[in-house]
Amino acid sequence: MRIDRQQTDRNVIEQKIRQMDITLPPPESEPERQYYFMKKLQGIVEERKRQLGRPLFANITTFGCQMNARDSEKILGIMQMIGYEETDSAEADFLLYNTCTVRENANLKVYGRLGQLKKQKEKNPDMVIALCGCMMQEPEVVEKIKKSYRNVDIIFGTHNIFKLAELLAMKFFDTGKQKKMIVDIWEGTTEIVEELPNERKYFFKSGVNIMFGCNNFCSYCIVPYVRGRERSREPEDILAEITCMVNDGVVEVMLLGQNVNSYGKNLEHPISFAKLLEQVEQIEGLERIRFMTSHPKDLSDELIEVMGKSTKICRQMHLPLQSGSSRLLKIMNRHYTKEDYLLLVEKIRKAVPDISLTTDIIVGFPGETEEDFEETVDVVKKVGFDSAFTFIYSKRTGTPAAAMDYQVPEEIVKKRFDRLLATVQEVSADRTKRAVGTVQDVLVEEVNGQDASLVTGRTSQNYVVHFAGSPSLIGSIVPVHLDESRGFYYMGTQAASREAE
Ligand code: 5AD
Ligand code: SF4
Repeated sequence: MRIDRQQTDRNVIEQKIRQMDITLPPPESEPERQYYFMKKLQGIVEERKRQLGRPLFANITTFGCQMNARDSEKILGIMQMIGYEETDSAEADFLLYNTCTVRENANLKVYGRLGQLKKQKEKNPDMVIALCGCMMQEPEVVEKIKKSYRNVDIIFGTHNIFKLAELLAMKFFDTGKQKKMIVDIWEGTTEIVEELPNERKYFFKSGVNIMFGCNNFCSYCIVPYVRGRERSREPEDILAEITCMVNDGVVEVMLLGQNVNSYGKNLEHPISFAKLLEQVEQIEGLERIRFMTSHPKDLSDELIEVMGKSTKICRQMHLPLQSGSSRLLKIMNRHYTKEDYLLLVEKIRKAVPDISLTTDIIVGFPGETEEDFEETVDVVKKVGFDSAFTFIYSKRTGTPAAAMDYQVPEEIVKKRFDRLLATVQEVSADRTKRAVGTVQDVLVEEVNGQDASLVTGRTSQNYVVHFAGSPSLIGSIVPVHLDESRGFYYMGTQAASREAE
């Protein structure tokens, strides 16, 4: 396949940064403007390291979803490019929380951490504390931080992560006695800045953003307000990024978007998600493709057909149900019924019989009756999910559901939640048993944390498997006999070949 775009290779970016002339004013266009500030910061960071006689360290904590995890890799890429080293320790020179606000308890965790940082900053006044992510897109959060957490240095949002170098430069060039808190939050953007440095947690697999934002406005969800309207990346940019990753050792990619099934609709030359998948599939050397999240309302027959034929798309789909009650689904603004969902599952299973289906379910949505809840339990049993993330409804200010009457009493929600969890566990334990005795291809990811004679990897269905093996297997795909299922994972033995099945 021919790809015309410049590949965003680290060396290429490094070279472009080196070529920037920092005696001139900064360029207006992106990403050159950021390259300019990166070069300026490289000088400052070098100087600081010399003064201190040690490296400068960056610590990044990620809350929330895979999108945030990928954003954090981009942030780390920028920090490394300007000369910081990554550390697990919170005793860092640059400390960043990439926040989530999908449920209230995510916010509470961040406030708790910020409180604990006060002493640390007193000890090391030169440390830089930065906050970004979805929670920062809420004006009342930023107000609270400005008032109660004065030790925070930089706040930015979900739309301008690419500006980190510029914001950090502003911080370092602030020579005033009372250093100002730098707050730069955008309400939205149509811009997607390509060709910035980024890191990967694993050398053999990576998330790849294919789109940003969400247009669905499910009535309980804050994401469209904090991540903005849907924007798709150009297919050429996506393909170039993946090709570059594959050249660098990646064998598995996870295509990321809030609703991947509506990918490409707003591009100048619209293209469907299924077509994008077909193109990604052609990248030589790439072995596995995953994607998330799929919205049932937009999941096309075309996609199901492409999955059925594919040899690289993993046998796994995350298909959020949210509720099994058609009445509640309507109020949730989900645009499908219980029957639509069950029919969709039937179609997917027919095309891809060994597919593993996972889901998200909310318990205690305003006005949820016992009958509504029973419908949810019924769908869980009928579908037989391989696993499900179950959430207690959390009221998010500004969403339509927050203004709805009949918030369900806490004790009732708790009881329903426990019952749903038990059902999910029962159903998924049953599903897992079915693969025992088969041989599956496993992508080996790490040495087992508890027993160093074991390695741990994932099947195409995304099941975790532990088996005796050498760390040299990390990053390769090997056939493993699944000997035993233990709830959420398998114990296995490396097999001679996949044909042993
Ligand atoms: N309360 C509880 N769960 C929520 N989710 C989104 N918004 C809320 C909320 N207000 C869940 C949905 C979504 C997942 C990422 O988070 O199930 O699919
Ligand atoms: Fe939230 Fe619905 Fe968009 Fe998912 S599809 S991010 S639940 S609004």
